[in-house]
Amino acid sequence: MSPRRVRAESDAVGRHERPLRITVDGEPLDGIAGQTIAGVLLASGRLAWRRGRSGAPRGVFCGIGVCFDCLVTVGGERDVRACRRRAHDGDVVTTQDRQPKTETGPATGPATGPGDQKHLGLPAEEEER
Ligand code: FES
Repeated sequence: MSPRRVRAESDAVGRHERPLRITVDGEPLDGIAGQTIAGVLLASGRLAWRRGRSGAPRGVFCGIGVCFDCLVTVGGERDVRACRRRAHDGDVVTTQDRQPKTETGPATGPATGPGDQKHLGLPAEEEER
C-alpha cells in the first residue's frame, strides 16, 4: 500500500477522482473514493494511530487484513481494520488505545498525527517527515 497519490490528470488509466472527507478524532481528512481508511490516514502523513498494550505504536503492518494492527472505530463500530475498510464520505473515525488505564486516563494518548512521531520511538530524522 502506497501513501503516494496519483493525480487524475497524470493517471495513465484515466480514472476520475471523487473526493471524500472523513473525520479522525474530530480532524477532517480528505481522500478520494476507493481509498481505504488506512490509505487516507497514510496519505495525511499518519504512520501510526493507536498503541498496543505495551505502548508500542501501531498502524499498517500487513496491509491485507491479517495482523489487526490498524484497528480503529468507525461510526461507533470498534475494531475495524482500517486497511480493509473503504473510506466513505462522512465516516467518523476514532483511534483506539489498548494501554491499561490509570486513574488519570491512559498512560499516553493514542498516536494521532505527524507531530506525534516523537512519541512513537522513531529516530530523529524520521521525525522531520
Ligand atoms: S494492517 Fe494488518 S490488518 Fe490492517
